[in-house]
Amino acid sequence: MDARQGQQLITQLATAAKAVHLYPPEHPARTQPLQRVATVLEQALSRQAVAAVVIQEDLLVVDGNPYFDPFPGSDDLFDFMRERQLVRIEFQHGVTGAELRTMIALLALPPEDLANWGNARDYLEKQHVEHILVELDEEDLEQRALQVYTEAKRYIVDLWREARLGNIPHGDRARATMNELGQLLSQDPNLMLGLTMLSDYDNYTFNHSVNVGVFALAMADELGMSADKELIGLGGMLHDVGKTRVPIEIINKPGKLTDDEWMQMRRHPEYSAEIVQQMQLHDIVDGVLQHHCGYNRKGYPELSPTKELSEPGQITAVCDVYDSVTTLRPYQRQFTPQEGIEILLKQKSNGHLNPKFTDTFIRMLGIYPIGTTVRLNSGEVGIVVAFNREHEDQPKLKIVRDARGNLLRIPLTLDLANQEGRPRRIVGTLDPAVLGIRIGDYVDQRDKQG
Ligand SMILES: [Fe+2]
Ligand SMILES: [Fe+2]
Repeated sequence: MDARQGQQLITQLATAAKAVHLYPPEHPARTQPLQRVATVLEQALSRQAVAAVVIQEDLLVVDGNPYFDPFPGSDDLFDFMRERQLVRIEFQHGVTGAELRTMIALLALPPEDLANWGNARDYLEKQHVEHILVELDEEDLEQRALQVYTEAKRYIVDLWREARLGNIPHGDRARATMNELGQLLSQDPNLMLGLTMLSDYDNYTFNHSVNVGVFALAMADELGMSADKELIGLGGMLHDVGKTRVPIEIINKPGKLTDDEWMQMRRHPEYSAEIVQQMQLHDIVDGVLQHHCGYNRKGYPELSPTKELSEPGQITAVCDVYDSVTTLRPYQRQFTPQEGIEILLKQKSNGHLNPKFTDTFIRMLGIYPIGTTVRLNSGEVGIVVAFNREHEDQPKLKIVRDARGNLLRIPLTLDLANQEGRPRRIVGTLDPAVLGIRIGDYVDQRDKQG
């Protein structure tokens, strides 16, 4: 395809996508640009197998021709692609009119609706588009995930500060935050769950709130409770907000609490319930109130025997226990994911945690949960950064120590399911503390292919 045809393709794709929201399907303003796209591609694909629109270093490139200067539709198409994480659209010989229509619908689909389908690739796949392939900018997504996580944490910091002053803001911002987390989670659960391993001593409470929100959201997905997904996540994120009414000296006290201090600490679920009520988040009141009451009702606060147990509360309880033992916090050893799972199983067998939700949670984490430190048959040491649903024993790793035991300054990425040369496999798990490794240092590193 020459530069002029490429330019036409871009202009017509953008025009067609913009027309989607303005005109009904059979209107000429929609059918004509679509027809022009089809014609350009037909001509090009009679001479070549594929034609591709690519974003390369912030420029649109069609079949190798970069467009340095803007022209009608170029900025629009660039934005449409970027907003949907598309870095390459490849049209193959045999592409049909229906497939082009689906592609244009994708370019016009609001990104928040796209999240319901997964990502752009899932969207095309689910609609049986075979002759258009797309490539996604995963790195972009990674950056976005980190940004959303950080924003969520900032929200919690603000909320905590306000609540300490006795100002209870409306829950709208909480909902918006959870909505963003939900979108990212459906685009890439691995990325979001990976971020729960980010931790630092100073921000324990804030990280913990966001993490429990993310875990609860992922659990709702896993349990097929998608209608209530965001409410369940919201309950997880706000479960401990009542701690803002407990004196900070008690919250931060190292070591054992006195009986009186413990009494005050135990009131935090009731305070949380009051606060979310004041935030107008009435649907999550029961869930936050019950996050410590236990499946056997032996925890706190005491529930009246006629009161039904709240499922979101039971889900939060599982996520809460796991996150509070596996994240870094002052005066407490950080348990490994395997130890975290053992603690869950213990609390399931003593009746504190709901057995069904505990099992679902453990299944969701997989045999090597994100954040697990593993040793390979090659002698290398890696940290699990992404779960592989089909082959649980072949997760994606960041290699942090080479076969000779040297710590790598820039960790290498290794996908155990997709390796070249002599295949490496996991032979055991390790305690990162023993090796002087901090998991959180690795989960947000840029990929360096290895
Ligand atoms: Fe709590
Ligand atoms: Fe908690």
